[in-house]
Amino acid sequence: MAYPVKTAVFPVAGLGTRFLPATKAMPKEMLTVVDKPLIQYAVEEAKEAGIEHFIFITGRNKNMIEDHFDRQYELMNILKEKNKLAQISILENDLPSAGQTSFTRQQQPLGLGHAVWCARHLIAKEPFALLLPDMMVKSKVGALKQMIEQYNGSGGNVVGLYEVPHEEVDQYGVVKTDVRPDGTIKIIDMVEKPKISEAPSNLMIMGRYILQPEIMMLLETQNIGAGGEIQLTDAMLKLLEFQNFSGVNITGELFDCGSKLGFLTANLSYALDHPEVGEAFRKAAKKLIS
Ligand code: UTP
Repeated sequence: MAYPVKTAVFPVAGLGTRFLPATKAMPKEMLTVVDKPLIQYAVEEAKEAGIEHFIFITGRNKNMIEDHFDRQYELMNILKEKNKLAQISILENDLPSAGQTSFTRQQQPLGLGHAVWCARHLIAKEPFALLLPDMMVKSKVGALKQMIEQYNGSGGNVVGLYEVPHEEVDQYGVVKTDVRPDGTIKIIDMVEKPKISEAPSNLMIMGRYILQPEIMMLLETQNIGAGGEIQLTDAMLKLLEFQNFSGVNITGELFDCGSKLGFLTANLSYALDHPEVGEAFRKAAKKLIS
């Protein structure tokens, strides 16, 4: 039986330069898809997968994220005075319980690998989930929950995979895979942002991982990699030399909300399905497009 995954790490210390000026003073992870910030979708996905401890790697200008997961007494009191029960229940439901969140800082955005390493003292030598909040999956069963099901059988490390058009592989971490006798996917190689002609497949690592704690020791000695950053993929490649890695083809619709196009498409998709505004929005969108 695999050691249960109860902790999730959310790296939220990036600069979000693709969204400037929106992200000048506001964290990218607080951008909203309809009425919820990206980071909240990620936390809800983790909760659904059984996560009990939420670790945020924050940086400058990211205090808003900590506040978002705290009680807002003044707002609550005003809502109570106005008897706005629906809004009160939205705020109550969004809150993790006391002690379930931890925040640490990555003082300089030195890359995803470095951000993950900043959580080393908080993960208590246990396997942990890693969720990049700007990668959103719209699905019946959350992406991380789909991966936990695989992890419970195989143990080891697990990455979420998603097929992308071949001409886009140079934007992502891409894997080479094999199929095990039981039909599950074994990862045999990973390449960060390969040249299109050299990519081993069009399966990208889509921002969800379950990692064993030994990754921290490898990140500790990791040199600067592609883009002048400490790359998580480089450390995972070293881990692959002595630990098992599985892949899970994620079922659902993936939106790369770190890019303007992906973010706008996510908003369109969630708005069309929104119980309150969906129907009216569909009419408004049709009018705009025609
Ligand atoms: P991105 O690669 O999207 O980088 O990070 P970014 O800085 O946020 O955005 P751009 O490219 O400048 O527009 C993916 C995730 O990893 C986090 C980000 O906050 C985001 O959630 N990250 C990235 C860190 O926490 N630290 C880093 O040094 C880099």
